[in-house]
Amino acid sequence: MDDSHFLIIGAKGQLGTALHERFPSAVTVDSDTLDITSQESLQQFDWSNITVILNAAAYTNVDGAETSEGRLSAWNINASAVGYLSEIATSHNLTLVHVSTDYVFDGTKEPHAEDEPFSPLGVYAQTKAAGDIAASITSKHYILRTSWVIGEGNNFVRTMVGLAAKNISPSVVSDQVGRLTFTATLVDAIEQLLKMNVPFGTYNVSNEGEPASWAAITRRIFQVLGRDDLQVTDTTTADYFANRPEAAPRPLQSTLVLDKIKATGLGLRDWTSDLEIYIRNEQTKEHV
Ligand SMILES: NC(=O)c1ccc[n+]([C@@H]2O[C@H](COP(=O)([O-])OP(=O)(O)OC[C@H]3O[C@@H](n4cnc5c(N)ncnc54)[C@H](OP(=O)(O)O)[C@@H]3O)[C@@H](O)[C@H]2O)c1
Repeated sequence: MDDSHFLIIGAKGQLGTALHERFPSAVTVDSDTLDITSQESLQQFDWSNITVILNAAAYTNVDGAETSEGRLSAWNINASAVGYLSEIATSHNLTLVHVSTDYVFDGTKEPHAEDEPFSPLGVYAQTKAAGDIAASITSKHYILRTSWVIGEGNNFVRTMVGLAAKNISPSVVSDQVGRLTFTATLVDAIEQLLKMNVPFGTYNVSNEGEPASWAAITRRIFQVLGRDDLQVTDTTTADYFANRPEAAPRPLQSTLVLDKIKATGLGLRDWTSDLEIYIRNEQTKEHV
C-alpha cells in the first residue's frame, strides 16, 4: 500500500506512534505542528498530496474532561475538530479514518454492536459521540470503535507493571468488564479496511478473547511478571471512586461485538497473548 499519501494526525500518541511505525512514509503531524482545533490552520494545510486522513488525535483524559478547562478542550479536539476534518475530507475527496470508543455507550448493554444508540455518560464520552456524528457526515469515512487501548504511552498495563516494581498489591475494580486493544490490532484493522476497500461505516475493533475485569487483567499481568506474591483485591467502581466525586462516570460493560470487522477477513489475536508479548517487550526495554 502506498502510504506516502496518508496523513497521521496525533502521531505522537499511542495509536499515532503505531500508525507511523506501520506507515513510515506517511506525513505526520501532532499538536505542535498542526492544531486541528484551528479551522484556519486546517484550511492553510497543503492537502494536495493527501488521500487518507488517519485521525489518532484526541483529548483522552477522561477525568480531566470533567473540569471546566478540560471540558472546553475535549469538545474542541474530540468534536469540533472532527467536524472540520470531515469538511476537509468532503471538499478534497479524502477518506477519513477516525477512532471512537465504547464510552459512547452507558455500558448497560452487553456486548455493544456498532448500531447501538449513543448513551454517553461523562463529558469525554459525550464529546466522542459528537465526534462520531461529525466523522460520519463525510461519505468516505471509517470509524473504528475501540476499547482499553494499550501501546507506547501511559496506559493501564504500564501502571500495573509500575506498581509491581514497587511491590504494591493494589485494589482494582472488578465490575468493569471488557477486552484490551493493543495498538497493533487497531493498525491491522485500519490497514485491512483501506486495503480491502470494504464499505465505509463504523467498525468495532478490539483484541479477541474472554472479556475480563480490570482486576482479572491485573492478576494476569502479575502472573506474566512472575509476581504471584502480589495480591489483587477486588473493588467496585462505586467504592473505588467514592472519595473522588469529580471523576468521570465509567461504563461497566465495554465488550464490543467483533463480527463485522472479522467478516472483512481480519484475524484478531487473543488479548492474553498480546499482553504477554507486550510485557516481555517492556522487560526487554528495561534491560537495554
Ligand atoms: N486510550 C484508550 O484507552 C482509548 C480507549 C478507547 C478509544 N480511544 C481512542 O483511541 C484514539 C487514540 O487514543 P490514544 O490512546 O492513542 O491517545 P493519546 O495517546 O492520548 O494520543 C492523543 C494524541 O492526540 C494529540 N492531540 C491532542 N490535541 C490535539 C490537537 N489539538 N491537534 C493535534 N493533535 C492533538 C496529542 O498530542 P499532544 O500530546 O501534543 O497533545 C496526542 O499525541 C483516540 O481517539 C481515543 O479517544 C482510546
